[in-house]
Amino acid sequence: MTAMDSSTPTLAAINRPIRPADLTAAKARGERWPMLTCYDVLTARVFDAHRIPALLVGDSAAMVVHGHQSTVAITVGELLPLVAAVRRGVQRALIVADLPFGSYEDSPSQALATAKRFLKVGGAAAVKFEGGAGFAGHVHHLVSAGIPVMGHIGLLPQSVNALGGYPVQGRGTAAAAILADAHAIADAGAFALVIEAVPADLGRQVATALGIPVIGIGAGPGTDAQILVWQDLLGLTPAPTPRFVPRYADLAGTIGEAISRWANDVADGTYPGIEHCYS
Ligand code: KIV
Repeated sequence: MTAMDSSTPTLAAINRPIRPADLTAAKARGERWPMLTCYDVLTARVFDAHRIPALLVGDSAAMVVHGHQSTVAITVGELLPLVAAVRRGVQRALIVADLPFGSYEDSPSQALATAKRFLKVGGAAAVKFEGGAGFAGHVHHLVSAGIPVMGHIGLLPQSVNALGGYPVQGRGTAAAAILADAHAIADAGAFALVIEAVPADLGRQVATALGIPVIGIGAGPGTDAQILVWQDLLGLTPAPTPRFVPRYADLAGTIGEAISRWANDVADGTYPGIEHCYS
């Protein structure tokens, strides 16, 4: 779809909590939308106030919050409080919680038990987990229990040890398997699908083939939505970052400059001034 059908309100015009069906409707009218990761209450408030329709409390918290080398290490116990914190900052955005590596793969019932914790204790409205056609049964089991599921195919960062890094997926003949994964996850009942680090042509092909919203990260401009880790987008993570990361701010520079000025003011006695003192 190229032109936007204006028969239903845009996502930004919706003044109640966003539901999965709103994202499906956005796709139907050709509206493209942004999604960000989020891990704490203050950024959650800012992103929500600026009408980002969906926030992912991603397992990328392993790296950008907890300082691990990959997403493999994070546990449910480490991610769950971050979901609860984001929940407290959001009135409108759909909150999606990632299922950590080791918390869902064994069986659909393991995935269901973990997902329930993220909804009941964390307050998430949906969960996401990594996996292609082999995880369609997991998706179906959760959806049957009333839990909205976002799939994640293409590059699966939790498989970094098997992949030996973060290589682009779906090039050449491998595209067919990614397309089959996409269909399997959508047919199992997922309400949306993240596709990571695939050629732009394949990203477009998957988005065109599915009726559910396809959210790209390094999958080109042809997907229905785009997601990024906010610290990448705003220049807090150190270089090098993946090719698909744009820098819309230099927060590391801004914060560094500000705390240096304050440190100098402390050193030379300019801070605290009279206006910062109690009489
Ligand atoms: O955890 C994460 O950050 C993700 C990406 C798709 C954004 O899964």
